Amino acid sequence: MSKVDLSVNIGPLKLRNPVMLASGTVGYGTEISEFTDLNTIGAIVTKSLSLKPRKGNPPQRIVETPSGMLNAIGLANVGVEAFIKEKIPFLKNYDVPLICNIAASTIEEYVECTKILTGEETIKAFEINVSCPNVKEGGLQFGNDVKAVGKVTEMVRAVTDKPLIIKLSPNVSYIWEFADAVKKEGGDAVSAINTVVGSAFDIYTKKPKLFNVNGGLSGPAIKPVAIAKVLEISRKVDIPVIGIGGIMNWKDVIEFMIAGASAVQIGTLNFIDPTAAGKMVGELEQYCEQMNIKRISELTASYDIEE
Ligand SMILES: Cc1cc2nc3c(=O)[nH]c(=O)nc-3n(C[C@H](O)[C@H](O)[C@H](O)COP(=O)(O)O)c2cc1C
Repeated sequence: MSKVDLSVNIGPLKLRNPVMLASGTVGYGTEISEFTDLNTIGAIVTKSLSLKPRKGNPPQRIVETPSGMLNAIGLANVGVEAFIKEKIPFLKNYDVPLICNIAASTIEEYVECTKILTGEETIKAFEINVSCPNVKEGGLQFGNDVKAVGKVTEMVRAVTDKPLIIKLSPNVSYIWEFADAVKKEGGDAVSAINTVVGSAFDIYTKKPKLFNVNGGLSGPAIKPVAIAKVLEISRKVDIPVIGIGGIMNWKDVIEFMIAGASAVQIGTLNFIDPTAAGKMVGELEQYCEQMNIKRISELTASYDIEE
């Protein structure tokens, strides 16, 4: 029996350890379960689900970049109904908290999706992806508009008692203002960050490498950006933060926790080594033992910054 308590609380959501699998990088858990024992992971977050199935963007949808990748998948997913019928039964075989990530193009659609899913006992929390175009506001992303993020939080909060996490976009001037709106409207936590807007061109054809022109940058290239955003929220707003962005090993997890994260999510790394996230749990435990840390949660926001 380990002497280290690896459990963490994200508001009302209790996890056995802080290592979660990030939305869009493990689908609905089926393939990754062949490489990592899901029973050892803190939680699994689904690919963003929308009310109706979505095919996503035509190819090219992924481009490799220095220390990262750009993706413009376009939220391809099976839709909530097929998710309930075809994907949840598989996940019931595992003792791992399931967090449903939801994407939508109107506030009504966020609410509708949550209403349909909240009755499913297997779902332990919701993560709302606000990096989606708001069709009623001319396609401006919800995540770039503080009022819209507040409204989505308020409206979704009204239809579920389950823990509510809002996943924030880094493509804003002051991310703390968004975390503050989430807290004020009753959200339990924020995830930071989603991908950073990026673009790439082929210098011979002069065409964009992605069909969608712009994509989302992820991987180690964005880690310092993500750490800065987590720290900003942690210093300004009293709300649990789930740190995401470029985590490649257990040391990165510790760094995110020191900067203010209560837990973390692993994304791009799952494509490089689908066994890595599972292995980190033991490594985190070793670090805590070595540092004489009894509870890993003590690390959260333990930064030493001279004021
Ligand atoms: C291929 C791919 C697909 C993604 N799809 C989603 C998605 O559907 N919903 C979402 O909220 N985030 C999505 N993300 C963002 C990740 O969950 C994560 O926030 C981001 O990649 C940063 O973490 P990382 O650097 O560890 O990958 C996706 C990322 C990648 C690489």
